Amino acid sequence: MQGRRQMHLIAFLMTGPTCHHHGAWRHPESAVDDLLSPNRYEHIARVLEAGRFDGLFFADILGIYDLYDGKFDTMAGRGGQVCLLDPAVVLPMMARVTERIGLGLTYSSTFNHPYQIARMLGSLDHLSDGRAAWNVVASTSTLEARNFGMEEMPGRSQRYDRADEVLEACGALWDSWEEGALLFDKASGAFADPAKIHYADYAGKWVRSRGPLTTPRSPQGRPVIMQAGSSDRGRDFGARWGEVIFTLQHQKADMQAFYNDFKARMAARGRAPEECVVLPSIDVVIGETESIARERADHVNSLVDTQLGLATMSGHIGIDLARFDPDQPLADIAIEEGSRGSFDVILQGTKAEGLTLGEAARRFATSELCPQLVGTPEMIADQLTDLFEDRACDGFVLTPTTFPGMFEQFSRAVVPLLQKRGVFRTEYTGRTLRENLRS
Ligand SMILES: Cc1cc2nc3c(=O)[nH]c(=O)nc-3n(C[C@H](O)[C@H](O)[C@H](O)COP(=O)(O)O)c2cc1C
Repeated sequence: MQGRRQMHLIAFLMTGPTCHHHGAWRHPESAVDDLLSPNRYEHIARVLEAGRFDGLFFADILGIYDLYDGKFDTMAGRGGQVCLLDPAVVLPMMARVTERIGLGLTYSSTFNHPYQIARMLGSLDHLSDGRAAWNVVASTSTLEARNFGMEEMPGRSQRYDRADEVLEACGALWDSWEEGALLFDKASGAFADPAKIHYADYAGKWVRSRGPLTTPRSPQGRPVIMQAGSSDRGRDFGARWGEVIFTLQHQKADMQAFYNDFKARMAARGRAPEECVVLPSIDVVIGETESIARERADHVNSLVDTQLGLATMSGHIGIDLARFDPDQPLADIAIEEGSRGSFDVILQGTKAEGLTLGEAARRFATSELCPQLVGTPEMIADQLTDLFEDRACDGFVLTPTTFPGMFEQFSRAVVPLLQKRGVFRTEYTGRTLRENLRS
């Protein structure tokens, strides 16, 4: 199989009840009362590593959405996307029970200072021996801004201008220690070679940092950069910095259009296509037979709460959808403020079917309008392989429909079929996350 293009898989996690599928936590097989326990996170890290996933990452929201009807009651009360723990504290525990799987978290370039980001991620890269990834978000919501002492979010172009500078500053800080700066020489008393440690002296319009970092150069030099912006500016940012792009697309044609657009943006920046993998979000429901899988899907999808879907959509788009009639066609809703990119993604997924707002909310709360693949392991392996081989993507971000059961089933039943077809690794070939993403 040598030389054959390999699929990449990343698991989407959150430290709360809901990732994409808002009914998943209510499924009888799902674990939920262990959300605050290390066991939950250690277990899933082991499961995903046994399935040879490239990595796992935690999406994150720095607040509890309260736009819907002006309250957080639906979001907190019905178990929405509420991130109960700080992933920066969770990942090192996962690192301790695994050896190869990549470990990513989401950090906002708007709310965090590059020195703090560079230090934390440098530390994680050391402690995981080269497996750290940073999902860079510029953030969009006023609710998050208020948690960080701002009245409103800066506009999109300012957020991305700052994000560019934060990445440049972090890069300068990560480079402030050369390789081999640590000597540990007891005999001479030379702990480190100061000639190999430099000031970063980064001065931009939005951020400044002198450096050097206190954390020595890490195994990967810098973490793998993940990104998920969907606006024009967001895609350009991803094409400049991204090594993993996470995207919400609804069907094969949308995935192919995004894939081609993104790889063209990379080429325009002089980057080779393999320097960044494009991974659309997928969720799966697996059954021994197709009809069992369909019944399982119907059951878990029936556990979705429409209001919670509306509340989550409100949070993502940045407007209160309680003020619209749920029977109104989604396409008729005028959105000026908030995250236009996120709204376009939702619109794109419902245009063809002409869904109403309420129907779209249910769909959104099922898979965030991304494909839900339902079937036997063979059927799922076939569909994933088809998307991959038709250049709709370089692999997938898998979101749970039950937790941890879906990932266990996928690792046990689907991964071996992908391996048999020669499109997915049987062993990790690289030591670091970046090496595994490139092989
Ligand atoms: C698939 C996807 C996943 C995202 N995950 C997060 C996240 O976990 N935390 C967050 O703060 N923002 C997240 N975002 C928001 C984006 O990073 C970005 O800030 C937002 O889409 C606004 O940028 P845009 O206008 O370029 O789309 C996500 C966006 C997409 C499309």
